[in-house]
Amino acid sequence: MEYTTLNNGQKLPLVGFGVYQIPPRQTAEAVTTALNDGYRLIDTAEYYRNEKEVGAAVRQSDIPRDEIFVTTKMPPQPSYAAAAQRIDESLRALDIDYIDLMLIHWPGRANVENYRALEDAQKAGKVRSIGLSSFYGQEYQEILDQCEIVPVLDQNETHVFRQQQEFQKVLEAHGTKLESWSPLAEGQQGIFSNPVLVKIAAAHHKSVAQVVLRFLTQRGIIVIPKSVHPERIAENINLFDFELTSAEMAQIKTLDQKRSIFGW
Ligand SMILES: NC(=O)c1ccc[n+]([C@@H]2O[C@H](COP(=O)([O-])OP(=O)(O)OC[C@H]3O[C@@H](n4cnc5c(N)ncnc54)[C@H](OP(=O)(O)O)[C@@H]3O)[C@@H](O)[C@H]2O)c1
Repeated sequence: MEYTTLNNGQKLPLVGFGVYQIPPRQTAEAVTTALNDGYRLIDTAEYYRNEKEVGAAVRQSDIPRDEIFVTTKMPPQPSYAAAAQRIDESLRALDIDYIDLMLIHWPGRANVENYRALEDAQKAGKVRSIGLSSFYGQEYQEILDQCEIVPVLDQNETHVFRQQQEFQKVLEAHGTKLESWSPLAEGQQGIFSNPVLVKIAAAHHKSVAQVVLRFLTQRGIIVIPKSVHPERIAENINLFDFELTSAEMAQIKTLDQKRSIFGW
């Protein structure tokens, strides 16, 4: 596994496991499979309705708590008080002593108040790191200008069709890492049969999924692919025994449409 270091010194694996759209009854099993395969970063959210099952899998595993990094997210709340309550509710649902990373899931009307609640939760030891998701431009800048703690990362839609080459530079200039949501583009736009990707995958005896995840991690972007299939869960973390050449990176760069494929 390769790691990245956040602006507060915490180390984060470059590959994690996302549990969006995994039904609660399947979540603990999928997370256990992922942990057994070597995943140490799990990405959930209040919105996914499976925080409880993620927490159960983490508690039941033999892996020491401090080796597992759990991210969760709160939907935007109307006030500081509501955000503080939401953080406590996630902590209760997960039941894993502390949350490694908590994000505001998407921008709302009280971003600064929400973020200040996260800052206070970090100071109280409830949360180790705090950040954002789907924050761009002015919304990101407002947090930098009005809050104290620089977000450790911004989790944004990032895949071969929306590469975020420019925004990654903006974030990194402020000490915020880019984390990719939907790194496999949720399988859309014919990604797995794209001729450019199929050719590169064949050259490395790897799958297209591995090539597109390698493309992102090779740029220092954290990826959190989701799957419910054990063979794919194993495949998606097996990325570090090959490297894309600069010519291959340049070919994949040509697939960038520079816009959301999900309407974000
Ligand atoms: N912050 C946000 O707003 C936000 C938004 C979206 C997602 N996320 C996070 O990002 C994570 C990943 O994004 P995502 O779940 O939207 O999509 P994704 O990881 O880009 O793609 C998941 C899809 O690809 C399939 N798949 C997985 N591995 C594969 C492989 N090796 N070969 C072929 N198909 C494969 C999965 O099917 P099977 O499950 O059937 O294998 C599923 O249909 C989420 O789980 C969530 O944690 C965050």
